[in-house]
Amino acid sequence: MRILIINGPNLNMLGLREPEVYGAQTLASIESEAQRLGAELGLSVQCMQSNSEGELVTRIQQARGQIDGMIINAGAYTHTSIAIRDALAAAEVPFIEVHISNVYAREPFRHQSYLSDRAIGVMCGLGPFVYEAALRYFAQTTKT
Ligand code: DQA
Repeated sequence: MRILIINGPNLNMLGLREPEVYGAQTLASIESEAQRLGAELGLSVQCMQSNSEGELVTRIQQARGQIDGMIINAGAYTHTSIAIRDALAAAEVPFIEVHISNVYAREPFRHQSYLSDRAIGVMCGLGPFVYEAALRYFAQTTKT
């Protein structure tokens, strides 16, 4: 099973950025851990990060027919981007929406997501474990 992990704007700053909210782990470390776990679970894991909405849209479009499941943390675009919502619909790849922080315990504008109703499921507030849990979900579904 081919899995694509997509991280949106400012997630390249993990480790430096607001550690009291997002913790100390860097994106490079989250991605290498995901690759390692993916291999263990029999998944092929690709990762990409971009600060640009257009690049995210293009990568999601390219996933059509090439990727079997996506794990997406769209960062702030979660709360603003109809373009990313539309790209996910066009790609027709099942996806899990993840957030490191508990967006519901934060500002009201973070309670709105343009992606959630299209997602298989949504996870937030568990720190980087959300990526691991989403990978395990996909691995589990391939077995059943
Ligand atoms: C985030 C939550 C978003 O509200 C925020 O804009 C981010 C990160 C998270 O992982 O907790 O950039 O998606």
